Amino acid sequence: MSLPIPTTNQDVSLLALRSLIRDRSVLGALEVFQQQLGSIFQITLPGFKPVMLAGPEAARFVLVSSRDDLRWRSEGDPVTALLRHGVLVTDGEQHDTLRRAMTPSLHKNMMNRYVETMWRATDQVMQTWVDGEQRDMLVEMRRIALLILTETLFKVDFAPELNRLWQPILKAIQYISPGWWVIWPGVPRPGYGRVLRQLDDYLFQIIRARRAAVGEADDLLGGLIMTPGMDDDLIRDQLLTMLIAGHDTSTALLSWSLYLLGKHPEAMQRAVEEARALPFPEPPSLEQITGLHYLDQVIHEALRMYPPIHLGARIAAQDLDFQGYIIPAGTRVMYSIYLTHRMKAHWNEPARFNPERFTPENNRQRAPYTYLPFGGGPRNCIGALFGQVESKIVLARILQQYSLMLAQQPVHAHMGATLEPRPGVMMNVRRH
Ligand code: HEM
Repeated sequence: MSLPIPTTNQDVSLLALRSLIRDRSVLGALEVFQQQLGSIFQITLPGFKPVMLAGPEAARFVLVSSRDDLRWRSEGDPVTALLRHGVLVTDGEQHDTLRRAMTPSLHKNMMNRYVETMWRATDQVMQTWVDGEQRDMLVEMRRIALLILTETLFKVDFAPELNRLWQPILKAIQYISPGWWVIWPGVPRPGYGRVLRQLDDYLFQIIRARRAAVGEADDLLGGLIMTPGMDDDLIRDQLLTMLIAGHDTSTALLSWSLYLLGKHPEAMQRAVEEARALPFPEPPSLEQITGLHYLDQVIHEALRMYPPIHLGARIAAQDLDFQGYIIPAGTRVMYSIYLTHRMKAHWNEPARFNPERFTPENNRQRAPYTYLPFGGGPRNCIGALFGQVESKIVLARILQQYSLMLAQQPVHAHMGATLEPRPGVMMNVRRH
């Protein structure tokens, strides 16, 4: 006999609403639902009735045991409209072919080559900082992440385009962020067409330029061009996917890490000491980067508290049975990484910043599927290693050069395309 899936009925909705108003956070409301209703519950908004799943059993169910019965592609969603046939929104054979074409450029053997670019891009942006001024780290980290992504994976110098394409990129991110379209799919979205065409023009132009340059296939763009069956439209879809998925996540991770360090001066002090023990100004080796153990713990704790991708969205391709609850075919299914990372059953004082949770000994004791900032299973994050190497390099380089102090300003977690610190992370930057 199937069990009825608990719904966000009136009583719990009132509790959740109270939390929403108090903390200005939808995430707080989701926490109330999960605490009151359990690991599976259905949100019941008009026109939007996803089944939410949280916790390790649910993660294993979505990411591994039932993954073939769940689709990533949802026709009509803005993310599909924007990325068309990008690897993120395709399924089956097409997905596997695309993923295979992109994997080599993100393999661990490639990371050595990226260290210098990551180091230099950080320098390039820091050179614009004036000693003693205030800067928004959400903006600065986006600039760094964009320069790194494009130079390593597309082999282009994006600096001359940064200002011109800044708004189109932000608009594209806004286009796929949760909004009215969630409950009103046909809502008019004026103003997007023009800026999205600007992005397309740029991407088609770098594809054409690369086709004309012979023999450069050792990056992501080169690899795509060499893959049989890839036309320019399909390559554009992968480039845009990587441009968005590969920089917006790093931007969120880096700015949350700096925010958390700014809030915890003793952790900042330890991270600074570690970073300043590295040789500089030359870029360090990958081995030296791997040896930044405390920064590693800080980054992992930032990913736990504020996972940039805080949920994974799917569509049930057929009826699914999760622990006796039947999820009908066609239902939108969402597994929450954020809720899983904050469950009291698996995390002691989950709201507290504590990088020590990620010492090697504590890592060994962690139960499987309780920590999933990069998802899991065969469709885990293709850029997980890239993102971790990048965040360590960028943070180490900044902390070598500057002392950062958090300016007084309340920050909340905003559910955009990623989980972002809003309105930003204002910090005083003082040259070391
Ligand atoms: C730095 C922090 C990053 C975080 C926290 C992150 C997180 C994630 C998560 C959770 C997923 C799986 C989502 C799901 O299960 O629905 C994912 C998938 C993906 N990520 Fe990342 N990501 C990061 C960086 C990157 C980078 C740097 C790239 C590209 C260079 C990238 C490209 C992708 C792509 C293409 C997928 C889809 C993979 C597939 O479907 O086969 N990500 N990411």
